[in-house]
Amino acid sequence: MCSQVLINPFRKGCVIFSKSLARRPLANSSWIRTLPHGTQSSNNHDFHDKSGYENSKRLMITGFGAITLAGLYYYFKKNIPTVWAHESKENEVNTVAREPGSFVEGLPVYSSDDVAKHCNESTGVWISYKSGVYDITPFIKIHPGGNKILLGAGGSVEPFWSLYAIHQQPGTLALMEKYRIGNLTKGEEHLAMANMHDPYANEPRRHPVLVVKTKKPFNAETPSSLLVESFITPTDIFYVRHHFPVPDVDLSSGNYSLEVIGLDEKHSLNLNLDQLKTAYAPHSVTAALQCSGNRRSEMNRVKPTKGLEWGQGAIGNAVWKGARLRDVLLAAGIKDSDENENWHVQFDGLDADPTNAPYAISIPLTKAMDPRGDVILAYEMNGEPLTRDHGFPLRVVVPGTTGARWVKWLTRIEVSKNESESHWQQCDYKSFNPSTDWDKVDFSTAPAIQEMPVTSVVCEPHDGEKVKLKKDKLNLRGFAWSGGGRGIVRVDVSIDLGKTWHVAELLDPVKLSKQWAWTRWQANLPVQTTGQETEIWVRAVDSSYNTQPEGMEHLWNMRGVLAVAYHKIKVLVEEN
Ligand code: MTE
Repeated sequence: MCSQVLINPFRKGCVIFSKSLARRPLANSSWIRTLPHGTQSSNNHDFHDKSGYENSKRLMITGFGAITLAGLYYYFKKNIPTVWAHESKENEVNTVAREPGSFVEGLPVYSSDDVAKHCNESTGVWISYKSGVYDITPFIKIHPGGNKILLGAGGSVEPFWSLYAIHQQPGTLALMEKYRIGNLTKGEEHLAMANMHDPYANEPRRHPVLVVKTKKPFNAETPSSLLVESFITPTDIFYVRHHFPVPDVDLSSGNYSLEVIGLDEKHSLNLNLDQLKTAYAPHSVTAALQCSGNRRSEMNRVKPTKGLEWGQGAIGNAVWKGARLRDVLLAAGIKDSDENENWHVQFDGLDADPTNAPYAISIPLTKAMDPRGDVILAYEMNGEPLTRDHGFPLRVVVPGTTGARWVKWLTRIEVSKNESESHWQQCDYKSFNPSTDWDKVDFSTAPAIQEMPVTSVVCEPHDGEKVKLKKDKLNLRGFAWSGGGRGIVRVDVSIDLGKTWHVAELLDPVKLSKQWAWTRWQANLPVQTTGQETEIWVRAVDSSYNTQPEGMEHLWNMRGVLAVAYHKIKVLVEEN
């Protein structure tokens, strides 16, 4: 199951427990500190020890806020959609018309210590916000994220509202008043804010052309008209997908290292970046990186899903350079063998959730060991060291595979009989049929997304654009890509709702296998009538003759992943 018992480490008196913590030892303070796995004697220890306290604090705050408040948000959004507009009496809940968190005469007064005592389901789960004390126990039972909301138990949620724009919605705050049971002791209202640092204060600068989806954590896509401009997407405008604040690794401190747990302890490696660069031959791969949720906004038109509202730009194509993972694993005692063909390689990043569980993911060992699989531990992107946003100093590049597996800020690799136990491996980045909803879903029934299906996009013109014909032709440009190294063999375009199809010209060289890069395409289609709306459809065919389904509705899944139906846009063809 995906739910864990997680208790907020911010408040006093409750025990911290999580499956993932078993692999990351706790330090002797009341804070969880970001220590390396397994050993506390390596350089890693120093690195994490020095910066870990503040980082852990920041990450805990961030993740705590994210999970708790996202839970509230999604619950309210899903279950009580009309309450603010007061459109439907049926759906209306008993909200209270007062400033959220304001002092309410006549309610009992509780101290923050009283709140802290209510930190699990047996004691009841309380939280505080400004002057308000809330008993959210009933909400926990209906929380779609299960016990994860217990991260917020027994403490103030106030610091977190400022971290995520999504939570600043008046609706979420006001609905919280439904659970109001008392006032916080005067003078304690802002305790939670004291000494708070903005966990996002040290984010890198970003190019303003990126289309920002969320600022904290930073998630932004490339405008699709720029995608098609070049075969290689410039790093500065490459889409960014983070779950937490960006780690800041200072190589000059000598504290960064990569731990590799191979066959056994004896074969384990601990490599700094220089050692990785000198001991293993560099290998370059040109590969497209695409988020599983790219094009989710098109799927959302069928019915809302849960996830970032990506347009078509959560994809890019880059040249990656680094050490072959195969070479590193061979050095760690892993062999090409039938015995381990169902094993996995787990990767941990330096970024972590509130329980100190790192962003972690796994891929099949067969992909990692495949000499033709081109999985690399990349330290360069487009001829330069990785930028912080793209994983400096090291990330894994898994060509042909969904972006979620390309772990950034890589700090640990472990070969295992099991997949990563992380939330992202077990309870995310999976797809279900359209009848599966958040109440019914059993994530253990679906495999993690690895290789991606074929997709294609019209980048120019864009949906809704007014276009002029050139020599009576409508000029279209876009990209197509398929996972698993399957090259694009054909791109079909239609401007009459599929009655006739035109074959587009492929602009980039294509191989039938080991084709990790995308393929841009263009088409110049004759248009007879102007002054009216024209619908453009595109679909691609890959080297296995896989093609895209026509509509999003039968692909719809609650998480909004694998939105790979025909790309359909409407343009107004103007008179010349
Ligand atoms: N690695 C870490 N450590 N943390 C993350 O949040 N996000 C993943 C993957 N690797 C992520 C990560 C996801 S979901 C995607 S789509 C890609 O990184 C995005 O990579 P990019 O930001 O370099 O484009």
